[in-house]
Amino acid sequence: MAFDIFLVTAPGLEAQLADEAVAHGFTVTGTIPGGVTVSGGWPEVWRANIALRGAARVLARIAEFRAFHLAQLDKRARKLAWGDVLRPDVAVRVEVSTKKSKIYHARAAAQRIERAITEELGAPISAQAPVALKVRIDDNLVTISVDTSGESLHKRGHKLFTGKAPMRETMAALMLRACEYDGTEPVVDPMCGSGTFVIEAAEIAAGLVPGRDRSFAFEQLATVDAAAVAALRDRPARETDLRFYGSDRDQGAVKGATENAARAGVTALTRFDRAAVSDLHPPEGPPGLVMINPPYGGRIGDRKLLFALYGSLGSVLRDRFAGWRLGLVTDDGGLAKATDLDLEASAPIAHGGLKVKLYRAGPI
Ligand SMILES: C[S@@+](CC[C@H](N)C(=O)[O-])C[C@H]1O[C@@H](n2cnc3c(N)ncnc32)[C@H](O)[C@@H]1O
Repeated sequence: MAFDIFLVTAPGLEAQLADEAVAHGFTVTGTIPGGVTVSGGWPEVWRANIALRGAARVLARIAEFRAFHLAQLDKRARKLAWGDVLRPDVAVRVEVSTKKSKIYHARAAAQRIERAITEELGAPISAQAPVALKVRIDDNLVTISVDTSGESLHKRGHKLFTGKAPMRETMAALMLRACEYDGTEPVVDPMCGSGTFVIEAAEIAAGLVPGRDRSFAFEQLATVDAAAVAALRDRPARETDLRFYGSDRDQGAVKGATENAARAGVTALTRFDRAAVSDLHPPEGPPGLVMINPPYGGRIGDRKLLFALYGSLGSVLRDRFAGWRLGLVTDDGGLAKATDLDLEASAPIAHGGLKVKLYRAGPI
């Protein structure tokens, strides 16, 4: 039976996530700020978690009903076939949000649902439970979803070194997609930090499954089929001659990125060097994509230095990177302009409490 599966993303990247979902054969039924809805069953839930690079979280909608007061919520919650989805031996936690509804007390609503689960199914309730139910009560309509991911999906299990201002893997993957990167060209990141863009790009080229090395909340549900999940995880990698280059002026970042790449199994495809942007040269071979997330959003006094940095980046790219495309992520349009490159700005994208934009340039 098909149900709604909601793929969560950072507001501003919905179109890229919908695009990735379609490319993976999912049926997209809607896009709202912060996510994309696809339709499917449990096999699609597993596949969305394991195979999509852009989704931050995958929520499976398991029930929807109206409730105008707590007694009604209690009665309807008790009627649900909890055992079809949850296991009596796995702890659960319930998170409720309510909006424009007669039931306005989220904690009281959560308690009713928790009690229905413990008394009807027997599953324990715990704040540290591996399985979370996300309940929305909007206009008196109660929607119950299971968070099938657990830890956010940007945690692929490889990036133990994160550096100062790391980009999330999920966001990096969607930014690469927005730059039309499809795994068939080299990628260079001259301010690579923890190496997120470079490692994502190498994994995409090698056809590695993003969820190959981590666990998911859906593995704790009654619906899981371990053999089917193992088959989704164990896809063979592709051979590629492409190489992916990261550099940074900070030696700690270079070391950390190198170790992250090793954990991700892409050492042979990646190379990290200590270098300042002013010393950047393109690798031998055909042009590809320069992908950068330079420093920004610092203290006011730093902005002057940043203007110089963006300016020097622009001139290095103009002088040495003919034929390469550029994707640059910053929250500061003035700094992007300081590159003096012909850039096209995306809509704003939510990133760690800031609004950034992706600035793209066609072949330089
Ligand atoms: C916002 S962080 C990049 C984070 C990275 N995208 C990640 O996912 O970890 C910016 C990086 O630029 C580096 N950087 C700053 N000025 C530089 C310069 N002149 N040359 C090279 N790297 C520089 C910093 O050391 C820092 O690692």
